[in-house]
Amino acid sequence: MHDIVQDYYGRQLKNTSDLQTDACCDSSAVPIWLKPLLAAIHPEVLSRYYGCGLVCPPLLEGCRVLDLGCGSGRDVYLLSQLVGPSGEVVGVDMTDEQLKVAEQHRDYHADKFGYDNVTFLHGYIERLEELGLQAGSFDVIVSNCVVNLSTDKGAVLRGLHRLLKEGGEFYFSDVYADRRVPDTVRTDPELIGECLGGALYWNDFLELAHSNGFRDSRLVESRPLEVTNPILSARCGRVHFYSATYRLFKLAGLERDCEDYGQAVVYKGSIPDQPNAFNLDGHHRIETGRVFPVCGNTWKMLAETRMAPHFDFIGDFSQHYGLFPGCGREIPFSQGANRSSNAESSCC
Ligand SMILES: C[S@@+](CC[C@H](N)C(=O)[O-])C[C@H]1O[C@@H](n2cnc3c(N)ncnc32)[C@H](O)[C@@H]1O
Repeated sequence: MHDIVQDYYGRQLKNTSDLQTDACCDSSAVPIWLKPLLAAIHPEVLSRYYGCGLVCPPLLEGCRVLDLGCGSGRDVYLLSQLVGPSGEVVGVDMTDEQLKVAEQHRDYHADKFGYDNVTFLHGYIERLEELGLQAGSFDVIVSNCVVNLSTDKGAVLRGLHRLLKEGGEFYFSDVYADRRVPDTVRTDPELIGECLGGALYWNDFLELAHSNGFRDSRLVESRPLEVTNPILSARCGRVHFYSATYRLFKLAGLERDCEDYGQAVVYKGSIPDQPNAFNLDGHHRIETGRVFPVCGNTWKMLAETRMAPHFDFIGDFSQHYGLFPGCGREIPFSQGANRSSNAESSCC
């Protein structure tokens, strides 16, 4: 798999338009405030972008960020501007040709930004421990259309979990399938290179994340992927693919489900470029100034991370009220006719 991928991204593809899906066609989704930052990146780096989403979470200034499978460095140079001179971005990739392009334009970006805060490392994302990076030293780890290409996705999650600080997050875009992909798709070299063959069934991904220390994965955004080459599309059969961005927080106290402790938060409107509302994920758009009820996990994602100064917090964990309503699961037991009126049961 590594050889297939290195050949695909090192020798076969020359630029974004060589891809056979619309995975990279998300430029319309780039928010206005990011456009000048993208425009500051060298055209050759931009032309070799092979990502499938936007991996720019808020509040990065001064952060230490790691990009897994950084390719020729588009996101590294984007994040370099977001973390600023007091932050740092490290990119890791296993393909020499990709890293060469990233390195070649380092001086260009240092001149343009007025500082050099990036490092590129050659390595394998399944073996992050070999890179000499200190455990618990990254605020944010990102990755754009890479995890699907990995031969051992569990090892990737374990390795990056170790590198994250407590309260840090893995914010990444990748390709997922609506079912477990059949062997014919999984072993097809071209479909592997196109980020389809190695795509996880989305529910298997959630289980894998959970079993490797990331409870309550939060979906930020998603969209269906179109395989634009009709021959490749036919080889995919009935499998449907999606590009999706998840954020996975490293927080020891997260629970498997959204539990209700009667808590709420109030957003202060103070996060740059989000004056009216803060989007934690696709299900939590928190309006400025409004008392917003949250489950215990959402509370922790806001109170125990870099988001904390931007919120007021109401309540604590002293009372538990069962599952948080509207989070997809419900109490499994029959409620009986009288439960809603709290009447004494006459049974037995
Ligand atoms: C689809 S490209 C995405 C590149 C980059 N993130 C971007 O958005 O342009 C996948 C990249 O991941 C790298 N990659 C794939 N598997 C890897 C692995 N196991 N270890 C390190 N890099 C890997 C490839 O070399 C390639 O550069």
